[in-house]
Amino acid sequence: MTRYAHVTGWGMAVPDRVLTNAELIQTIDTTEEWIVSRTGIRERRIAAKHETTASLATKAAERALDGTQIDAGDLDLIIVATATPEYLFPATACLVQDMLGATHAGAFDLSAACSGFIFGLNMAAQAIRSGSMERVLVIGSETLSRYVNWEDRGTCILFGDGAGAFVLEARETPGGVLSCVMRSDGSGGDLLSIPAGGSRFPTSLETVHKRQHTIQMNGREVFRFATRVMASATREAAKRASLEMDHIELVVPHQANLRIIEAAARGLHLPLDRFMVNVERYGNTSSASIPIAVCEAFEFGRIRPGDHLVLVGFGAGLTWGAMALEWVSPERPVRPGVRPRHRLLTLFAHLASLARRVWRRIEGLIWGASSESSD
Ligand code: COA
Repeated sequence: MTRYAHVTGWGMAVPDRVLTNAELIQTIDTTEEWIVSRTGIRERRIAAKHETTASLATKAAERALDGTQIDAGDLDLIIVATATPEYLFPATACLVQDMLGATHAGAFDLSAACSGFIFGLNMAAQAIRSGSMERVLVIGSETLSRYVNWEDRGTCILFGDGAGAFVLEARETPGGVLSCVMRSDGSGGDLLSIPAGGSRFPTSLETVHKRQHTIQMNGREVFRFATRVMASATREAAKRASLEMDHIELVVPHQANLRIIEAAARGLHLPLDRFMVNVERYGNTSSASIPIAVCEAFEFGRIRPGDHLVLVGFGAGLTWGAMALEWVSPERPVRPGVRPRHRLLTLFAHLASLARRVWRRIEGLIWGASSESSD
């Protein structure tokens, strides 16, 4: 039996706080005209103090699960693609696993910057197609606002916060993930990075003083790289899936800059209306940008069952990739809205997690007392 990996659920979560260009103009030397004409961005979302990469990821995941027939406890694996994890470790994916109550799932983070969601989807699809897993949750989640130097006008205008999630399930019906292209070029690693905080430059007064914990970017070089790879990766993914470009109903590109998307459209000889674009409202949300764009494409009726899609992204690393999909899932979530049963299960998961923490403490005390008495 041939197995296929289908997207059966999708969801997104963005913070309520909207940061407009008009507000940014008050704090840095720029203009609305410059930002819009160079990037297409008009506003972006900024996480509130209580919102984190894991909390946004969990919200997006709950919404994705709400559209499926499964619960968190049925998941085999959770992959969180993120460039802005909560900690170096534990993995953000483990925090999400705990918050969801996905007690049978393995969980890990995937670091491929803005290409992370595509890379994660491919890993999930391979696990499903090989027969080793049935249901995988893939999330792209970011709080880039915490890593932006708000005095650097070359970067702070670009980025925003948010999360998007897909549930992938094994099916016998042909379709779902058809092909994937994954590429990297580490020689360009210095073009876009957060230099300090890792083992190369551990946190010190000097690294903090030099603002090396914020995003550093050579915008011009990243722009040149992006315009080069977007069209070629899309073409390669389509070719591997035996699809003519004319048979692709929608291209969902990484939302970094409208000019990069326009260049990709020109390179592919496709009209811009064949591309999903929402960069004007969210800016660049890195690994979250593609799933957020897919969720909105659905909301706007731009994806219908049977459609062929190419998701295409690029980012720090350097990394880039594209994935062709045949969308076979129902047009609308099977069970739209928040499911009471799901909320109940989440509450139960939180209680069970609390009980495990308390029991671990008690066990520690008992073990400590018994090892003291045997000394
Ligand atoms: N407002 C006004 N001027 C600005 C500015 C801002 N917010 N940011 C930069 N500038 C200035 C620069 O200082 C430069 O001035 P100079 O010529 O006196 O040195 C000038 O504008 C032009 O800079 P340049 O880098 O050539 O602009 P650009 O047209 O390439 O646009 C980016 C800059 C960052 C918008 C563009 O390069 C870009 O989008 N790159 C890709 C970034 C990206 O996608 N990163 C994420 C990858 S996942």
